[in-house]
Amino acid sequence: MRITALTAIEILDSRGHPTVQTTLTDDAGRVFVAGVPAGASTGSREALELRDGDPDRYAGLGVTRAVAAVNTEIADLLTTGDWADLAALDDAVCALDGTPTKARFGANAIVGVSMAAARAFAADAGVSLHRYLTPTGVTPRLPVPHFNVLNGGAHAHNPLEFQEFMIAPLGAPSYPEALRWGAEVYAALRARLSQAGLATGLGDEGGFAPDIADPHQACTLLVEAITDTGLTPGTAGVAIALDPAANGFFHHGTYRVSGRDLTPAAMVDYYVDLAGAFPIWSLEDGCAEGDETGWALLTERLGHRLQLVGDDIFVTDPATIAAAADVGTANAALIKVNQIGTVTETLTALDVCRQRRYAAMVSHRSGETPDTFIADLTVGSGCGQLKSGAPSRGERVAKYNRLTEIAATEPDLPFGLPE
Ligand code: PGA
Ligand code: ZN
Repeated sequence: MRITALTAIEILDSRGHPTVQTTLTDDAGRVFVAGVPAGASTGSREALELRDGDPDRYAGLGVTRAVAAVNTEIADLLTTGDWADLAALDDAVCALDGTPTKARFGANAIVGVSMAAARAFAADAGVSLHRYLTPTGVTPRLPVPHFNVLNGGAHAHNPLEFQEFMIAPLGAPSYPEALRWGAEVYAALRARLSQAGLATGLGDEGGFAPDIADPHQACTLLVEAITDTGLTPGTAGVAIALDPAANGFFHHGTYRVSGRDLTPAAMVDYYVDLAGAFPIWSLEDGCAEGDETGWALLTERLGHRLQLVGDDIFVTDPATIAAAADVGTANAALIKVNQIGTVTETLTALDVCRQRRYAAMVSHRSGETPDTFIADLTVGSGCGQLKSGAPSRGERVAKYNRLTEIAATEPDLPFGLPE
């Protein structure tokens, strides 16, 4: 594959913050564009997102340095010669950056190049992006969408410490039905909130952000909305998935939830009770990064009956996921392309999950663009799970609608969790 031009510009993400958009042109004149996402509740070991730090522009959040890195050094590198495959291209860019955290160019510069290049390699091979991203021996699948319908934590200005309350239509017979179920439960939830006199304004990921603090109240609302829709709460119908994102409410060894201070052991007890009271099937970042005692206890108490997803503790890093599998921390990994910084490393992280029998869930970030790369990545990986926010807001539904397109063009693709 030959690249004739590579450029980047500074655009806005869904939160109104600057981010990078990358455009790659190949020698056949085809143009490939990628939009870079950005998180708000980040793990401390994520690849470095380069921000200008200039207080006179976007309160320091500008990305002109990352944009300049693409337009100069990375473009000079990639517009010379032939590229055999994506791994070679990604490796070369990382080598030129020369830092372990992609700090010189910024992971936000590197990941956009990697995503655009993946699209170019797919076109060069004459296959769709999800087929290009399917490893040998893996069956592509349409995923169970995990709709984040109640937002708290760093994604909303309400008193709810838990960040994400998701609904997962695990019992749906197909992707289009799962999408419809999710949208209908979302509508029922809006009606419930209105009836209760609660606000229906949206958080960063498109879920409602009512003025509630208690996770029990949030889960009750979800169960009511599922039932109102005529669906069954639980894995046979629509289950609940939580991402408390515990880093956000863990301070000096103590979790602060709904007005109570909890030790790590008490926090785990809290989850055991919650999982007993509600049809919860998946729990992400139930404990904070650094709380090894909590994570060990959480895995021991709930690992046999819940999917326990590591996000901030794993940061999509293949070596970290492998090390966690050695000691048995969690049983699933969240996969975010910009957390590690290249598509190649993301594919390696997914491969580690398959080898170690860890489940994997591909994820958007709270700051997004209309880019739908992660929809294709999810299908290609065969991991069977995607979280892309609520069935609302353009940047969120873009991913769900891309899955609808894939389902329409390839109706024989399997749907749901892999066996
Ligand atoms: P972020 O949150 O994109 O704001 O980091 C998403 C998550 O914690 O899963
Ligand atoms: Zn998370």
